Amino acid sequence: MTREKSSERVTPTDDLRSAPENAQPEPSASEHAIPSTGEAGPALVDKKARKPLIQADKLSKYFPVRSGWFGKTKLVRAVDQASLYVRHGETLGLVGESGCGKTTLGRTLLKLVEPTAGRLRLDGLDISRYSARQMRPLRRRMQIVFQDPYASLNPRMTVREIVAEALQIHRLAESPADELRQVTELLERVGLGSEALGRYPHEFSGGQRQRIGIARALAVRPEFIVLDEPVSALDVSIQAQIVNLLLDLQEELKLSYLFISHDLKVVEYMSHRVAVMYLGRIVETAPAASLYERRHHPYTRALLSAVPTPDPERRRLRILLEGDVPSPIDPPSGCSFHPRCPHAEPGRCDVEAPPLTELTPGSHHRVACWHPHL
Ligand SMILES: Nc1ncnc2c1ncn2[C@@H]1O[C@H](COP(=O)(O)OP(=O)(O)OP(=O)(O)O)[C@@H](O)[C@H]1O
Ligand code: SF4
Ligand SMILES: [Mg+2]
Repeated sequence: MTREKSSERVTPTDDLRSAPENAQPEPSASEHAIPSTGEAGPALVDKKARKPLIQADKLSKYFPVRSGWFGKTKLVRAVDQASLYVRHGETLGLVGESGCGKTTLGRTLLKLVEPTAGRLRLDGLDISRYSARQMRPLRRRMQIVFQDPYASLNPRMTVREIVAEALQIHRLAESPADELRQVTELLERVGLGSEALGRYPHEFSGGQRQRIGIARALAVRPEFIVLDEPVSALDVSIQAQIVNLLLDLQEELKLSYLFISHDLKVVEYMSHRVAVMYLGRIVETAPAASLYERRHHPYTRALLSAVPTPDPERRRLRILLEGDVPSPIDPPSGCSFHPRCPHAEPGRCDVEAPPLTELTPGSHHRVACWHPHL
């Protein structure tokens, strides 16, 4: 994948590789400590950028489901004690197999679904138990761009109405003329001209629809955007355009992203840091460059070994994951990866869940495994 715009800009992973060597990372006392320096690239070096905009501590989301007419109600542990943070102007990539809870985690961070347990902070403010009414003024700060640009836009509304609706809900336009000016500017900003205003979603291609979705998200001037597989439904050539648009917008507007994707190459390209999720839990998190160079959790190693590579030696080292992802209704005891893990230690891995801990102080590389690959 190549960038089309801002060709002089280095990739986020290059930024990380050039992080100042003499940076003094704060000692991280717990698994949830936020590093203040040391892993941030040039785009993140100002003071505000070091602080977390979004922070989740042991956040869980369980869905009650009933099996059969008279069956008992059981809980789907879609997100199970997940801890992560996203700093100002930063992209956190989120990867993991289908059904591991990525979308649910993204939606819980936005409070589109209520967390079952755990703590959630927005810019330091504890919003874990905020009601819908309390959330209303904060909604504007957090937006989402969906995977399916076909299903996420109302087919009966014109593009102008779709983008203007967000401005109206949050009363961000002073007059109809101001509203039109803002909508036109937003469309231009995402690469669509004013001729798009009176047209309907079905008149656009997938990539153009995703641009409309991005314009709608941007209309309320958010700080944090959950990008839930924003390019997965698009052709490869169009994917690059949308990825570059998102990077340009981030640079210009200092946006923070949670970038969810199955495409590990795109995640590496987009992300400053990456979190790996397995069965509702975060099992490894690290600066992108560090994770792609040295993955320590057996699951991450298997997941990343599947990334297509022209190198025959690396292809040979591909690790095949055996078995399906277990059900989140009845997850395995201890480390939930133990039934599929080649390094599982009987009596320990199947009994005790490993906490997410920093491998070496200051590395900002955290792993939840009793026997991380060193
Ligand atoms: N509203 C719901 N009610 C019951 N179970 C749900 C609900 N939403 C999600 N789940 C379950 O929670 C688990 C996590 O789903 P989620 O969609 O978050 O995974 P995902 O990682 O985004 O998957 P994919 O990569 O396929 O998009 C799945 O087992 C799913 O079936
Ligand atoms: S804790 Fe044990 S089972 Fe889990 S990933 Fe590590 S070695 Fe494997
Ligand atoms: Mg999903």
